[in-house]
Amino acid sequence: MEESNKINISRRGFLKTAALTGAALAMPAGLNKVFASEPQQPDFSGNNGNTARITRHRVLGKGAASMEVSDLGFGIMGMTYNRSQHPDKKTCIRLLHEAVDRGVTLFDTAIIYGPLTNELLAGEALSEFKGRIHVTTKFGHEVINGKGTGRQDSRPSTIRRYCEESLRRLRTDSIPLFYQHRFDPKVPIEDVAGTIADLIKEGKVQRWGLCEVSPEVIRKAHAVQPLTAIQSEYHLMHRAVEENGVLETCRELGIGFVPYSPINRGFMGGCINEYTAFDPDNDNRQTLPRFTPEAIRANTRIVNTLQAFGRTRGMTSAQVALAWLLQKASWIVPIPGTTKLAHLEENLRASEFTVTPDEWKELEETIAAIPVTGNRYNAEQQKQVGF
Ligand SMILES: NC(=O)c1ccc[n+]([C@@H]2O[C@H](COP(=O)([O-])OP(=O)(O)OC[C@H]3O[C@@H](n4cnc5c(N)ncnc54)[C@H](OP(=O)(O)O)[C@@H]3O)[C@@H](O)[C@H]2O)c1
Repeated sequence: MEESNKINISRRGFLKTAALTGAALAMPAGLNKVFASEPQQPDFSGNNGNTARITRHRVLGKGAASMEVSDLGFGIMGMTYNRSQHPDKKTCIRLLHEAVDRGVTLFDTAIIYGPLTNELLAGEALSEFKGRIHVTTKFGHEVINGKGTGRQDSRPSTIRRYCEESLRRLRTDSIPLFYQHRFDPKVPIEDVAGTIADLIKEGKVQRWGLCEVSPEVIRKAHAVQPLTAIQSEYHLMHRAVEENGVLETCRELGIGFVPYSPINRGFMGGCINEYTAFDPDNDNRQTLPRFTPEAIRANTRIVNTLQAFGRTRGMTSAQVALAWLLQKASWIVPIPGTTKLAHLEENLRASEFTVTPDEWKELEETIAAIPVTGNRYNAEQQKQVGF
């Protein structure tokens, strides 16, 4: 008890110091109001103050398609794929168990991550929690003999085969939410929806979702088999879904929204700079125009702005990025990925801060005024997402 008080006191002391230090630091010109507001103390309700724990829930989708999940999910991808070096399997499993212990009930993987290794990890780490948590996965990218071909294959027979294989790797008998990873122009979305409807009837899939699709595709798909969630890239450096009608369509139809890469692939966490070396064999960031050294240098102004905003509130830039998404709508559930307990803790606390709508508005206007250098995807990847 005494020890726990000490920790609480020192934490309060830290927050106060952080706020005072922040006040003394230089701020971008003209941003005094939002950046120098009264420091807000985090609300640790539901937490014991020492360990971050998610206590709030959100609902993705409605009616029979609805799924209740923790405020924040966990993206497993980077534990084996596309985010450079990662800890060994035992360490990753331990971290995934920590996430479960701390109340996370939504975990995200896909067949293409690895390929296959990420689903295998998810199965080994998380199948024991079946019924308590949701491990969602994705089909669509063609994988032959364990290797991605770069092509799409959402033909009904392939979806069925992928479903069976995912069930085996995830060590379960039913997938809580099965997303189409990318639209397949060769297969009408109604045929994909019909196949999923059959898999739902058979109990092999419980719900479904789509990634990076247009409002037209969402409407056609939803009419055949109600969707639970759309998963697309969305964060302060990429707000296309606000403009292209996707978020509005989700709101109208009662479909949940799961923003992927919510910290912009780590960039808004502030640990990446122009000298960061991405693993040439396991990191797609080196192929993305937004992650060239020049783009990183230019876009660092955005991270600096998030850090300045966070200073007076005791928030890190990653927490600002996640909290901004969370306040957008109660049916939005970001899925940040991490390989570190410290980052998990930090991310889970993102919903504990109080920031007013005016403050958020001023922050987003400030960020919107900074041009983002470099496209999010290269030409080949861009063809698959359309926006
Ligand atoms: N549907 C799709 O097409 C699609 C595409 C991409 C991703 N996704 C999903 O979205 C999930 C997350 O995406 P993502 O990994 O691309 O991006 P992200 O969650 O925005 O960023 C992950 C990166 O940020 C770092 N990070 C996490 N917390 C941090 C913190 N508090 N401070 C500083 N750095 C932090 C992580 O490194 P550390 O390990 O060092 O913490 C990791 O490299 C994936 O796991 C996947 O499930 C879906």
